[in-house]
Amino acid sequence: MDIVKNLFSRAKETCSHAHAPYSHFRVGAAILADDNKIYTGCNVENASYPCGTCAEAGAIASMIANGATQIREILVIADSQELITPCGACRQRIAEFSTPETLVHLANFQGIKKTLSISELLPYSFNPEELKK
Ligand code: THU
Repeated sequence: MDIVKNLFSRAKETCSHAHAPYSHFRVGAAILADDNKIYTGCNVENASYPCGTCAEAGAIASMIANGATQIREILVIADSQELITPCGACRQRIAEFSTPETLVHLANFQGIKKTLSISELLPYSFNPEELKK
C-alpha cells in the first residue's frame, strides 16, 4: 500500500482511540520513522486539563521508545471540516526529530487537505545547534 495511504489509515484508526472527554476533539497522528516503521499516537486528555497530551507527542514518544530517531513523514488527522494544523508546541516537537524538508500531512476523515514541510509550519525555529556554541 502507498505509504501516505497507510499513514492515513493508521492515524484515522488511532484517532478513534483518543481520550477526549473534555474537548470532544479527537486527534490522531502517524509517523513514518527512519526504521521504516509506523508509530501512532492520539490525544489523551485529563481531568486536570494541563496534564493532557497531544496526538503528535504520543506518536513521537512511541517512536523514540521503540528505538527510531527520525521522522520521515508525519500525518495528523481530526474529524473536522476545517484544516487542522499541529499546535505550536507540537511543531517544535516534530522539528526536533525532522529535517527542515520533512513533510507534515494534514488530514480530515475525507482525506489529506494539505501537505507542508515542517519549516513552512515552523519557520525560524529554535536551532539545537545554538546550544553547542
Ligand atoms: N490536540 C492535539 O492532539 N494536537 C494538536 O496539534 C492540537 C490539539 C488536542 C489537544 C486536546 O486534547 C484537543 O486536541 C483540543 O485542543
